[in-house]
Amino acid sequence: MAHIIVTGGAGFIGSHTVVELQQAGETVTVLDNFCNSNPEVLGRIAEITGTKPALAEIDLCDREKVFAFFADAKADAVIHFAGLKAVGESCKIPLRYYSNNLTGTLNLLEAMAAAGCKKLVFSSSATVYGDRNPVPFTEGMPTAATNPYGWTKLMIEQMLMDTAAADPSWSLVALRYFNPIGAHPSGLIGESPNGIPNNLVPYIAKVAIGELDHLNVFGDDYDTPDGTCIRDYIHVVDLAKGHLCALRYADTLAGFKEVNLGTGHGSSVMEVLHAYEKACGRELPYVIAPRRDGDIPRMYAQTDRAKELLHWEAESDLLTMCRDSWNFTKKNV
Ligand code: NAD
Ligand code: UFG
Repeated sequence: MAHIIVTGGAGFIGSHTVVELQQAGETVTVLDNFCNSNPEVLGRIAEITGTKPALAEIDLCDREKVFAFFADAKADAVIHFAGLKAVGESCKIPLRYYSNNLTGTLNLLEAMAAAGCKKLVFSSSATVYGDRNPVPFTEGMPTAATNPYGWTKLMIEQMLMDTAAADPSWSLVALRYFNPIGAHPSGLIGESPNGIPNNLVPYIAKVAIGELDHLNVFGDDYDTPDGTCIRDYIHVVDLAKGHLCALRYADTLAGFKEVNLGTGHGSSVMEVLHAYEKACGRELPYVIAPRRDGDIPRMYAQTDRAKELLHWEAESDLLTMCRDSWNFTKKNV
């Protein structure tokens, strides 16, 4: 039984990963400052798994507290979710993104080094493929950033690469997530952004529950079969399971490796809308709106590396993802 520290473990992807870790018998401590989550989620995790994870309520930017925590924690490995993640907001307040995401990660890595814990799985993003690569995106492609959020992911990958090059006793895995959606099938944990959601599925969920009038489909004149953008949507529980496989892989890794976590299949905005209609049992109103700045027509993963190195593959289809999102939405209005 290992002691795994999960930074950002109260958030959307982190909470699902804590569930999977605990169900696999690991001991978990959630390190979170709740800047984008609620402590109640830890009770929900306990309802699902029978165990409430330990909590370290710490801001990763508080260097002293992070060092003090790791000096005592006897951590075997870290999964690092904590960070700010809204692309649009990162363009408005870039310094807050650089400060939180980069300072937080630097403090974390240095505190880990001081405590002799050198195994880490990092939440990166498909955004590091930029807007010039053809699909499917493979790990060897050149990377680029198109906004400050994306730059923080690229810069952190660079930090990890340099750290591993200088000292190969580190095992560092960057997981490049595509578009995580859905919720735990229990309906106890899921994604509940404050205010009007930026992302497609949380927005559709609010239309389905009647909190928003209609979906704005951002552009139907892209060069895709139905004219709307294509993304690789992945069930958050599949994604969470990928982290357990990545931890196992890290046990054998000397150095740094980046791995895509996606399904390898793309779905259009209209396909997602129709799947959600099936899940909630009614037609959902939408209007075709202008294109959204910065959207890339097609993004989906090449998944061979995850299969080969992590022995992991996504299992859920789009309808299951929408059903689980709807189940969570109904239970949490
Ligand atoms: P989330 O906002 O739900 O979770 C992030 C958690 O980190 C929150 O609980 C927040 O309170 C915590 N946190 C943030 N800054 C912190 C700090 N300085 N100290 C301590 N805790 C802090 O986000 P999520 O959707 O679960 O995403 C998790 C990670 O995955 C993020 O790094 C995100 O950039 C990355 N990612 C997410 C997506 C996505 O579509 N959700 C896609 C690609 C990558
Ligand atoms: N969309 C709409 N209407 C909406 C919201 C979204 O039509 O109300 C469309 C978008 O234009 C896009 C698709 O739905 O074509 C998906 O949009 P999301 O905002 O859900 O997801 P993105 O692919 O734009 O962005 C996500 C994460 C980013 C991450 C990126 C790449 O939010 O953090 O994937 O991994 F950088």
